[in-house]
Amino acid sequence: MSLHIGDIAPDFTVDSQVGEISFHEWAGDSWVFFFSHPADFTPVCTTEMGRTAQLAGEFEKRNTKPLGLSTDTADEHRKWIADVNDTQNTDLQFPIVADADLEISKLYDMIHPDESETAAVRSVFIIGPNKKIRLTMTYPMSVGRNFDEILRVIDALQLSDAKRIATPADWKPGKEVIIPPSISDDEARPLFPQGWTTLRPYLRTVKID
Ligand code: BEZ
Repeated sequence: MSLHIGDIAPDFTVDSQVGEISFHEWAGDSWVFFFSHPADFTPVCTTEMGRTAQLAGEFEKRNTKPLGLSTDTADEHRKWIADVNDTQNTDLQFPIVADADLEISKLYDMIHPDESETAAVRSVFIIGPNKKIRLTMTYPMSVGRNFDEILRVIDALQLSDAKRIATPADWKPGKEVIIPPSISDDEARPLFPQGWTTLRPYLRTVKID
């Protein structure tokens, strides 16, 4: 199934190393960082799981729950997590979906046959509290993800929701943002009383707190 930004993230009930999860109920009012991995006991995946666990506080600050997926069983996940904690010096607490039968991987289009017929690629879904998909990214098996970028896009999405702005290339928190063309100057005045810079009528930048 091909999923697009704005689609409702499909619900599912599945086993994990911390017990059964009903996805929408588990997500509650939080954002979700749902990310897939080819297999347990593999090196790149081990570093990614470790990094996510190390960043638990950063995800919590953003009201975002990490949810992993790997195409192995919950028992294998438990054994692998002991290795992740040991080698990556962390304490992994978030659930990892046990998707040995590939049901969820297929539901979320995480099987890319040229990479593997039997294991998920490195997909990312950022899902909002209303369960809508807000961002997708797909990495091949050989490339580990950049977790600074994961946190950055969550920040950008949450800021764009709160302030009706867009973010420019390479934006980082604290940098200038963009007033989207859908907001006229008249509409922008009360939203951005601090004023803005007009480089072109369609390119207006503004500093926000
Ligand atoms: C890894 O996590 O290291 C990995 C998994 C599958 C294929 C290639 C690398």
